[in-house]
Amino acid sequence: GAAELGPYRHYMQKEIFEQPKAIADTLDAVETIGPELLGPGAGARLKAVDRVLILACGTSYYSGSTAKYWLESIAKIPTSVEIASEYRYRDSVPDPRTLVVTISQSGETADTLAALKHARSLGMEHTLTVCNVATSAMVRECALQFVTRAGAEVGVASTKAFTTQLVGLFLLTLVLAKQNGHLSDADETRYLKELRHLPLAVQAVLALEPQIVAWSEAFARKENALFLGRGLHYPIALEGALKLKEISYIHAEAYPAGELKHGPLALVTAEMPVVTVAPNDALLEKLKSNMQEVRARGGQLFVFADADSRIESSEGVHVIRMPEHYGALSPILHVIPLQLLAYHTACARGTDVDKPRNLAKSVTVE
Ligand code: G6P
Repeated sequence: GAAELGPYRHYMQKEIFEQPKAIADTLDAVETIGPELLGPGAGARLKAVDRVLILACGTSYYSGSTAKYWLESIAKIPTSVEIASEYRYRDSVPDPRTLVVTISQSGETADTLAALKHARSLGMEHTLTVCNVATSAMVRECALQFVTRAGAEVGVASTKAFTTQLVGLFLLTLVLAKQNGHLSDADETRYLKELRHLPLAVQAVLALEPQIVAWSEAFARKENALFLGRGLHYPIALEGALKLKEISYIHAEAYPAGELKHGPLALVTAEMPVVTVAPNDALLEKLKSNMQEVRARGGQLFVFADADSRIESSEGVHVIRMPEHYGALSPILHVIPLQLLAYHTACARGTDVDKPRNLAKSVTVE
């Protein structure tokens, strides 16, 4: 009810603003990096695997897609990510030395549960879930678990569950990296420090809300939008596009920016807003030339740029400045303004933000 909402207009907005606490709570019990974070018996199971298969749906699929970049670059472990409803019906090549990781806010999504059972029926017994509900079927069914502490999520469009899944998946990455000799003591200390600083860093990004409200007026009048990202921010662009379509009903697509020239550039006109996720990482210069390709066709760029990225506003280039680059954990910060943009655009269009048409919070039937 209204009392629970406090100063917020919708649960989604409240849940976006709860992210600093959700992340802090999720990290609460974490002291050092070790298999005990994943439940009893984790050490032996993790020694028995040399690859990861992630299974999930919706927003949870995008946290898994982000984690693939971390698992391969930091833990050096081959990782594949599959949409649960596809995996369960496809002939795949099972490998018993696989850690099967399901990701689910609710822990009750029928397709993800069925994909897990399918993996087990193929002889893959090492299962782990990153899940927000400790009492769910998913937690009961998996041998290992990392329970996120986002608290109850009411808005159909997932927000705080997503960022806490990313925290859980980053911890999983560090556990595997350490076990396989790819995590120095210095790196462990540094990553833990960066994780613990996240609630404050997220708070600083939430303070950008008034600037995002100003942009949302322009977005509310559009019927299409393109989202660009590269590397581990490509799944963040996908998640931003999903948020916008779910609650504002604007058709949105995300592309890895290097792929623009292979199709979506044909859609770019002065009418097309192009949201660009621009962290100051190794791909920044490449991304800047992709932005030029958009400008040359008259596309309007709306850029979330790290403070140290030296991207300036100009004709057709609108910039909101993020804090300085946050390294490997940057996706957790960059998704926040995309959540706020979708939220305020939906408000401007007057849609039912917490209960978008045709969608359910938890899909427990196929
Ligand atoms: C539904 C919800 C999404 C969610 C997806 C997966 O489609 O509307 O917000 O991402 O299910 O749910 P899960 O509980 O498995 O994360």
